[in-house]
Amino acid sequence: EEKLVGEEFSLMSFCDGEHCVHMPVVQDHKRAFEGDVGPNTGGMGTYSFANHSLPFLSDKDLSDAQKTNEKVAKELYNVTGTKFKGFLYGGFMATKSGIKVIEYNARLGDPEAINVLSLLKTDFFDICSHIVEGSLKNINIEFELCATVCKYAVPNGYPDNPEKGFIVSGDNMEASNFFFAAVQKDGNRIVATGSRTVACVGIDKEISEAEQKAEAGISQVVGNLFHRKDIGTTALIQKRIENMKRLRQ
Ligand code: GLY
Repeated sequence: EEKLVGEEFSLMSFCDGEHCVHMPVVQDHKRAFEGDVGPNTGGMGTYSFANHSLPFLSDKDLSDAQKTNEKVAKELYNVTGTKFKGFLYGGFMATKSGIKVIEYNARLGDPEAINVLSLLKTDFFDICSHIVEGSLKNINIEFELCATVCKYAVPNGYPDNPEKGFIVSGDNMEASNFFFAAVQKDGNRIVATGSRTVACVGIDKEISEAEQKAEAGISQVVGNLFHRKDIGTTALIQKRIENMKRLRQ
């Protein structure tokens, strides 16, 4: 194994086995606590930029990641004889010597999907039909040119020893920018079941506004929960940019 030092990012692509259409790139935050400390989690929150790239990536990083997803889709067919139809999720690290692959998933990312599907202008069902029919190159897939910030509220003790069985409540949680995960309904009540509980996405032309919307939404959720206030903030994004600059000097 090679230790990779840099900044992680996710590039998900719609894929019909021959043709890939890339979604905006997203950065997840794996560590449980603010300042990127604490245990690894499924992902505490994510952001994407209005230009569909990330400020610590070069144009070459982005195009190399896109080419890598395309190559992987082709090779899946060459090696298995079966066309991969679905969502191809490349997990990458931008390092001082270019991008490196960390992992591949045959699914959308959580919470990355919340960022990018919230921007999707094209009908999702049409996209899926074209994936199944192998005709993705015949559909124009568009995303809003907006920034997104998504924050997850998770149970106290998550991920090692999460509380569960408590009620989750709050204003406006029926709005379309809230996404429930590890919960179940008990009559009219929503009960946490012990993992990432509810996410809130903020969308705006400016990342700082998107962050404030996500923060305002998630912080009014009531329950034995916590979230990372720093995700999508200018201070943390600036840290990422400076980290990459330093590595690439
Ligand atoms: N956000 C990480 C994953 O979906 O695997």
